[in-house]
Amino acid sequence: MDGKRILLIIGGGIAAYKSLELIRLLAKDGIGARVILTKAGAEFVTPLSVSALSGDKVFQDLFNLTDEAEMGHIELSRSADLIVVAPATADLLAKAANGLANDLASTTLLATDKPVLMVPAMNVRMWEHAAVKRNVAQLVADGVHVMQPDVGPMACGEFGPGRLPEPERIAAQIRKLLAGPVGAGPLAGFRAIVTAGPTREPLDPVRFISNHSSGKQGYAIAEALSRLGADVRLVTGPTSLAIPDGVTPVKVETAVEMHDAVKAQLPADIFVAVAAVADWRPATRAQTKLKLKGAQEAGVALQLVENPDILKRIASKKKDRPRLVIGFAAETDNVEAHAKAKLLRKGCDWILANDVSGDVMGGSDNEVLLVTRKGTERWPRMAKAEVALKLADRIAEAFYDPEGAAKIGAAE
Ligand code: CTP
Repeated sequence: MDGKRILLIIGGGIAAYKSLELIRLLAKDGIGARVILTKAGAEFVTPLSVSALSGDKVFQDLFNLTDEAEMGHIELSRSADLIVVAPATADLLAKAANGLANDLASTTLLATDKPVLMVPAMNVRMWEHAAVKRNVAQLVADGVHVMQPDVGPMACGEFGPGRLPEPERIAAQIRKLLAGPVGAGPLAGFRAIVTAGPTREPLDPVRFISNHSSGKQGYAIAEALSRLGADVRLVTGPTSLAIPDGVTPVKVETAVEMHDAVKAQLPADIFVAVAAVADWRPATRAQTKLKLKGAQEAGVALQLVENPDILKRIASKKKDRPRLVIGFAAETDNVEAHAKAKLLRKGCDWILANDVSGDVMGGSDNEVLLVTRKGTERWPRMAKAEVALKLADRIAEAFYDPEGAAKIGAAE
């Protein structure tokens, strides 16, 4: 990584001190850091300690004439291979998402033509606030890389997501981004959408219909595709799993939301539907909690309506159909025959079929069949993470090796 350089924007937050450690870690890899310290950032770390570690002057003021004479903010914004904002405060995220430019940090973010990595850190309530979620979604849509904060106890005494990731994790992400799309893996430059986890279909404000899906297989596939360099969007129902590094999450609850979220991420090259989507949802969603009173004698009749079949709809799109559409088939009997029928019914290119009569849902292992239009491959029982790596390899092969593609029946 010798000779690579980042521009590090240190925002105001109790975690700002971790950015000093980050500078030190990167220097060990030969990655230089030039630093912009925001006004709030300077409340937590001093320009002196930053410049001692970075070995460079620290930039603080948009209207510092000497700096403007030596290097304008435009030049500064382009003087590095990557811009990293750590900690990225709610304020910095909001400015960047809305294109504000009223100080050196925000002006630099607006003027740059380089990739940007935001490493958020803030109070858990702030991180979960609708406004912050909106801003993060906007940044992701604008092509900004946004890391997921760590979950844990916070300086303010609360617990949850919002902590700045450990410097080692940030450094790993920086190395990955600096490695660039070329040579970063066979799927660099490809976009993949993966659905994972269960959906929740609400009956009233406290009850919902759902299933036992843990999300493990979908998350592992998202991670494996990302490791091969793909830009992965993980559209996920509620799970207890951490979002894999480098993967962009889109969190949803219901099947309808999942369908909308997948469409919003198109166009993509690869679509892998792993989610255990609820086939039905209650016809009505009560605004207040349904009462038992009066229902005992009559019994409760639940009216259900069908949910969109996301896999089928994406596979049958005329415009924007991903080149490779892969579904899962959860079966309890006649696995291969049902999977073949499902492949045709859903219009997808490949189906990974598994027998869910055992402990697959929630378990760590999986035994699958890869069913394509050309035939069936039986994979031995292996860990879900291994299934994911093998599938990601197969996908890369299908895109790169015409013979491989023919052999496994990839989409034309
Ligand atoms: N799927 C989907 N949207 C739905 C239902 C399923 O995208 N509303 C996807 C799943 O993510 C999976 C595949 O379709 O990739 C097959 O799911 P499965 O539950 O096995 O099949 P069903 O379509 O529900 O068919 P059946 O219940 O008849 O087996």
